[in-house]
Amino acid sequence: DETTARRKDAHLDLCATGDVEPAQNSTLLENVHLIHCAMPEMAVEDVDLSTPFLGKRLQAPLLVTGMTGGTDRAGAVNRDLALLAERHGLAFGVGSQRAMAEHPSRAASYAVRDVAPTVALLGNIGLYQAIGLGVDGVRRLMDAIGADGMALHLNAGQELTQPEGDRDFRGGYRVVEELARAMGDRLLVKETGCGIGPDVARRLVELGVRNVDVSGLGGTSWVRVEQLRAVGSQAQVGEEFSGWGIPTAAAIASVRKAVGPEVRLVASGGVRGGLESAKVLALGADLAGMALPLFRAQQQGGLPAAEEALKVILTGLRQALVLTGSRTVAQLRQRPRVVTGALKDWLAAL
Ligand code: FNR
Repeated sequence: DETTARRKDAHLDLCATGDVEPAQNSTLLENVHLIHCAMPEMAVEDVDLSTPFLGKRLQAPLLVTGMTGGTDRAGAVNRDLALLAERHGLAFGVGSQRAMAEHPSRAASYAVRDVAPTVALLGNIGLYQAIGLGVDGVRRLMDAIGADGMALHLNAGQELTQPEGDRDFRGGYRVVEELARAMGDRLLVKETGCGIGPDVARRLVELGVRNVDVSGLGGTSWVRVEQLRAVGSQAQVGEEFSGWGIPTAAAIASVRKAVGPEVRLVASGGVRGGLESAKVLALGADLAGMALPLFRAQQQGGLPAAEEALKVILTGLRQALVLTGSRTVAQLRQRPRVVTGALKDWLAAL
């Protein structure tokens, strides 16, 4: 258990200051061009970003995706970012609750309801821990923090780069099916930066999953984080795979085409601003998701710095809607857009 806690803190240190977003990795959002409308014929205050999610109504289509928990330092991150989400009407997810599943005394570091009583809140557990916990165990983790839903994370790429990681990925769909049957639309399935593609998404939806976060390539690379901790051959293989994954733009556009409009889709993985948020929404996401930028701002300057970073994102998102002449995300999606370069190739194949 102490090794789990030490690993978690090493992860936070690496994410706070390390080179965990390899420069050559790309979301391919630079290949998406929204088209300027010189005559918007609307006011900024006409923009309506409100969005339903997990049975609640968000003021903006943004999710602070699950990052942390289990230590005091992690608890401070959760509380600052949950409070921020509460103030601005966003959704918020805690990180993997594995530590609290193994040691209930660590539960306090995931508890945010006192600072974020109405926020749309997601719990979090890894698929292969969920196998061990069973449906009741997973539901208990969600209920213990008063969450509205539970994120189930997939991270085969990270596990294979982690010396102590899993090496057997069988039996996943069976657990997903059980969880989807028991939890219905409170379940969300997410990747962790390598992307969910259309084939996996289609299968998940067939099994009853109603919320998917594609979490694609182009932002935080968990293969890279593990590679920075690994030594010898493991580190070399990690280096080779630190650009592995489906770019976020390719994942979200192809998954939306594969699953139809009723599935709630989140696009995270390298989404870094309001304009990029607008792009993923235009490509079919219901929510844009972000982890690293808000975490880093919080680590550098606490809640005020995270709030400043969020304001830049929200202002940019509103501006993108105005400059495309869109009052809502639904209108933004109907506007024409240009897709160029490598993204065009990806979308031809997916
Ligand atoms: C994460 N991420 C993550 N995901 C998850 O499902 N459970 C977890 O415990 C964590 N832990 C975690 C810690 C930190 C510090 C970061 C930065 C990220 C992954 C995260 O939710 C997201 O899917 C990816 O990081 C991609 O988004 P960004 O970081 O590129 O915006």
